[in-house]
Amino acid sequence: MTKSWKTRLIHSDAKIPQGYGSLATPTYRGSTTIFPSAARVADTWDQWRVGYTYGLYGTPTNLELAARVCELESGKHTILTPGGQAAISLINLALLQSGDHMLVPASVYYPNRKLATRLLSRFGVSTDFYDPCIGSGISSLIQDHTRLIWCESPGSITMEVQDLPAIVAAAHARNVKVVLDNTWSAGVLLDAFTHSVDVTMQALTKYIGGHSDILLGSITVRDEALYQRLGAAQQVIGCAASPDDCSLALRGLQSLAVRLAAIESSALAIARWLSSRPEVALVLHPALESCPGHELWKRDFLGSSGVFSIVFKPGPTQEQVFAFVDALKLFKVGYSWGGVTSLAVAYDIGRIPGRPPYEHRIVRLNIGLEATADLISDLEQALAKLAV
Ligand SMILES: Cc1ncc(COP(=O)(O)O)c(C=O)c1O
Repeated sequence: MTKSWKTRLIHSDAKIPQGYGSLATPTYRGSTTIFPSAARVADTWDQWRVGYTYGLYGTPTNLELAARVCELESGKHTILTPGGQAAISLINLALLQSGDHMLVPASVYYPNRKLATRLLSRFGVSTDFYDPCIGSGISSLIQDHTRLIWCESPGSITMEVQDLPAIVAAAHARNVKVVLDNTWSAGVLLDAFTHSVDVTMQALTKYIGGHSDILLGSITVRDEALYQRLGAAQQVIGCAASPDDCSLALRGLQSLAVRLAAIESSALAIARWLSSRPEVALVLHPALESCPGHELWKRDFLGSSGVFSIVFKPGPTQEQVFAFVDALKLFKVGYSWGGVTSLAVAYDIGRIPGRPPYEHRIVRLNIGLEATADLISDLEQALAKLAV
């Protein structure tokens, strides 16, 4: 069949040499995947079982990243989502239904709280927020219709390390599933499945991506039934991860160990320096005794990453805390973390129910890959602006 040049634009006979031995996983983009015959067309989401059916369920680039994250977390199945918050939503939508109840730590990532109070509540799912340091005391909060207990360790901003084994034991005694937001540990500094957690999720946006330029999430499970529910829900919700972002995350994985090691030692040095400052009441870094749950961190974690908070002694107004943050030159002001750039955000947690009385005196830092001494000098000059 002769083809017009217009047809050749779509159906080309051009050939290239085969066998390119790249070290990088190719970036396969795609919505349509080609079926071998009319009879083989199927809209089945589990591409590990049936082969490729549709880009929504993952191209080979997505599946490669999913398999790598799964291997690192010692799971059985990993599903990727277009962001960490999408992973949180997918878990809740897949595993809860009207009439169910869940328990969420008061220290949880704020959009996770908002999902529960503003959206899931409209669909008949009720939520109670618990003290992240509750440990086995969580038993008394479990109700007959409790289906899910969320953990996030350490907690967002206030950094409480949770007693996962105690919470899991209490939950499983009542047939309740436990989900862990394991983003802070990058899925490698805390081996969640050895603590019998049922579902882990990560914002790959943070340390796996590592360069503040992607949005990606992962959900990992060991249980086949949970995987089926999550996969089926992802299909109908339609939240696909971008293959380009997966490709960047695959690249990020290769340098994760050295980035984490450098970030850990810099963050520790800075946290210790901040502990010695007269303006600072508390350094909430899990590897420091001043952090709630420090003993649990020592027991359960293999190391620390680079996000921690400082609480100023009573005195500065919110404007003075803002002045401190604004005076920082190397630390940029911005959400998200886990990249190479140091960040600082001031919070007023007085507005969040059940939070410690730090009010507007808390600042969260993300330590990046700049020289530690320069970051300390930056903090030192900005502390002068606190003007207490
Ligand atoms: C602990 C935690 N979980 C989940 C998320 C959500 O991740 P994403 O920004 O990829 O939606 C974040 C983002 O800051 C986070 O800090």
